[in-house]
Amino acid sequence: MSLSLNIPHVVLQWSSKQHNNMPVIGLGTASSPSPNDTKVAVLEAIKLGYRHIDTASVYGSEQPLGEAIAEALQLGLIASRDELFITSKLWCTDNFPHLVVPALNKTLQSLKLEYLDLYLVHWPIAVKPGNWEFPYPEEALASFDLEGVWKQMEECQKLGLTKCIGVSNFSRKKLENLLSFATIPPSVNQVEMNPTWHQKKLREYCKNKGIIITAYSPLGAAGTFWGSNDVLENELLKEIAEAHGKSVAQVSLRWLYELGITIAVKSYNKERMKQNLEIFNWSLTKDDYEKIDQVKQHKLMSNGPAKFVPDLWDEEN
Ligand code: A2P
Repeated sequence: MSLSLNIPHVVLQWSSKQHNNMPVIGLGTASSPSPNDTKVAVLEAIKLGYRHIDTASVYGSEQPLGEAIAEALQLGLIASRDELFITSKLWCTDNFPHLVVPALNKTLQSLKLEYLDLYLVHWPIAVKPGNWEFPYPEEALASFDLEGVWKQMEECQKLGLTKCIGVSNFSRKKLENLLSFATIPPSVNQVEMNPTWHQKKLREYCKNKGIIITAYSPLGAAGTFWGSNDVLENELLKEIAEAHGKSVAQVSLRWLYELGITIAVKSYNKERMKQNLEIFNWSLTKDDYEKIDQVKQHKLMSNGPAKFVPDLWDEEN
């Protein structure tokens, strides 16, 4: 790991760049009250030292993120776009081979960027075109041609539209299938991970395969429709936080960092954004790990974007 602006980086494998450095902490933009809130928060985050921003076509945050990047350049907060690491994701309605490259081009247009650093298949689910209500009903699901979609993801990298490609919400079984035919393996698997959802087996699997995990909902996504206060209000985590003079959020983020996990954490509040970066000059003890091992486990995102998807998680954890 190298240091820049005091935020360590990991090097992603299978990048079209010689060394694609991903800052271990990124700003999440999945839940936002308004586009302007996203723009203001991203500018604030860049001022604080964030260089990695996570978006997706479905979040509605690509356009304000693009505006914030343009303004950051204009204000001289960054000298060039290359200083940023930008991730976006292919939505389920575009999870068909012929729609992948056009979807990424649309994302780049919204962001006003020439390339992404990382493009992810958001879910292992394809949804038919149509005006479906959310969460999608079972009849909206189409069969998902992962092999065909991945070939087009590889094409996106070859065309220079993204430096790296990866997936999100993939179980070990789905990764194993993907690795059986991929000519460019996924650099990243972005999944729910926090002290209430450890995913130990997936962590081991990804480590062995050289796939970097990015944790979403690292604080349990309090305040969103899928989230809860179970991380931030956990008594064991509070004990650890008190002993270190840190917050529960910092303990959760530090724990992920020490496990080698990269993080997309969402805060649009300046103080909390700053606090979430202050996790690099202290460490957890063996006792802290034992306590975190005792935290009751449950998944927040059990159904994903559809009401029911058979074998979504392949009964793994
Ligand atoms: P806010 O944006 O008001 O700071 P996650 O990253 O797991 O999705 O969690 C996001 C939620 O956690 C948001 O509601 C965010 O609210 C809140 N949050 C982010 N950072 C902190 C922090 N350091 N302390 C408490 N709550 C936080």
